[in-house]
Amino acid sequence: MSLTMELLILVLLPVAFLLPHGSQAGEIIGGQEAQPHSRPYMAYLEIQHRWKKYICGGFLVSENFVLTAAHCKGDKITVYLGAHNIKQEEQSQQKISVRRWIPHPQFSRATHNNDIMLLQLEERAKLNRWVDSIALPPASERVNPGAVCSIAGWGSTSTESASTPAKLQEVDVVVMQDAACPRRPNGPYHDYNSSTMMCVGDPKMGKDSWEGDSGGPLVCGKTAQGVVSWGPPTPPGVYTRVSTFIPWIQATMRRLQP
Ligand SMILES: *[C@@H]1O[C@H](CO)[C@@H](O)[C@H](O)[C@H]1NC(C)=O
Repeated sequence: MSLTMELLILVLLPVAFLLPHGSQAGEIIGGQEAQPHSRPYMAYLEIQHRWKKYICGGFLVSENFVLTAAHCKGDKITVYLGAHNIKQEEQSQQKISVRRWIPHPQFSRATHNNDIMLLQLEERAKLNRWVDSIALPPASERVNPGAVCSIAGWGSTSTESASTPAKLQEVDVVVMQDAACPRRPNGPYHDYNSSTMMCVGDPKMGKDSWEGDSGGPLVCGKTAQGVVSWGPPTPPGVYTRVSTFIPWIQATMRRLQP
């Protein structure tokens, strides 16, 4: 199975598995429409990879850099900033192509380790009330288990257009202990690495399991602490731990800044 298919399934399965009997499709596991433009750092990534097109989330960390997951790499990436309804041409939107993508040099497709990527934009975004960057955590900061954070995204790929929301959706999720993603040899979390990953989403709260898009931010307070990365069909899911990568992010941005 290709990685893209795996990712598509990772994103879609929680919906299929956890939708409680009798609930309405519009109430999908606790996700709700975000207040328009309440998350001005959100980026919608349109990715062309060989003959396939798919989407990822991302987030603006400076005027010309977007952070996302390394598994969102493709042959061509277009970034949309300032969007709420991605299926309309809103005045607030800025469409910018990507000049360079820099996946983490130790990213592993097999284990998803170091699943983080910087995108340098072709031109600087105009920062305004619809488009703004989000703060990153201090290096090595760890979010306490039990913290309630949130994720947001526009759903999964275009092949499932019927179930892809046009408008940005969001949901609250709980940060779990690392032990909630146990590294048992045959278990779903055998590749979990507590230094580079976070375990997020209470298995007892099906409504908190909506995955959002790969590459989108896990926001705790005003800070992007995680990147949506991978997981089994049910929560918890696994996120890239942003605070581990602060030295790499800063060095990379400094190196590429003209
Ligand atoms: C976790 O990831 C780090 C960084 O890539 C790596 O050095 C370390 O060996 C990994 N640990 C395990 C148990 O795989």
